[in-house]
Amino acid sequence: MPAAGPDHSKLPRHVAIIMDGNGRWAEQRGLPRAMGHKAGVESVREIVETAGELNIEVLTLYAFSTENWRRPAMEVQALMTLLRAYLESQLTLMLEKGVRLRCSGQIDRLPKDVQALLHKAIDQTAANRGLILNLALSYGGRGEIVRAAQRLAQQCLNGSLKPDDITEERFGGELYTAGLPDPDLLIRTGGESRLSNFLPWQTSYSELHFSPILWPDFRKPQFLAALLDFQGRQRRFGKTGAQVAA
Ligand code: IPE
Ligand code: IPE
Ligand code: MG
Repeated sequence: MPAAGPDHSKLPRHVAIIMDGNGRWAEQRGLPRAMGHKAGVESVREIVETAGELNIEVLTLYAFSTENWRRPAMEVQALMTLLRAYLESQLTLMLEKGVRLRCSGQIDRLPKDVQALLHKAIDQTAANRGLILNLALSYGGRGEIVRAAQRLAQQCLNGSLKPDDITEERFGGELYTAGLPDPDLLIRTGGESRLSNFLPWQTSYSELHFSPILWPDFRKPQFLAALLDFQGRQRRFGKTGAQVAA
């Protein structure tokens, strides 16, 4: 008998993933770190496909942080090459499967040709109605919050906004994730229990799932297990257990 899968009626609307462990996966095999990133792309394909099959609304993948710019130039280059290849090779599939691409982060710091590929894929998939695939690229959560504050301050200066009218909703509307529901489930692979500047505003009430599995080994069965774990949680949002169960 197949193992019981997650209950399709109680799936998270938005899953966010910190895809960590590529470097260690390669190092354990005596391979260059870039080979770990390459293997990680296969996991990305499988998890995107699975999320689509399950009708999850939004999948946010942390692919490159603002802090990752500090890595050796060769590794950054290898990651950009993989991103380029991913965008080039996946566009047709995204169109076929109805995937809508968007991104979160300081996109203008990416190589110009990668920016062009990204914008092309975002434009061409904009009318799709399936999974929203949100790639966090050159993303940092504190930077995102500062940027939102600057945009609101600018609106106050030009008279279109009053400080008293700045609400949580309004603030959220100036983040890269404007219009998306907050992640219900945040997964981090690779064994570390930290957030590494990922979606600090949006994950304030997310359920956290830390997996020891290195990202290239995180595939459909591990994803389904994380969803099952999520379904076992009681989300109380400040209320009592009895209130929520009622
Ligand atoms: C995650 O894997 C991918 C990126 C950060 C781009 P790592 O490259 O951080 O892998 P480890 O943590 O060194 O194993
Ligand atoms: C977080 O992983 C960033 C991504 C997965 C893109 P890191 O490997 O960069 O995180 P730290 O530096 O170990 O916290
Ligand atoms: Mg890491």
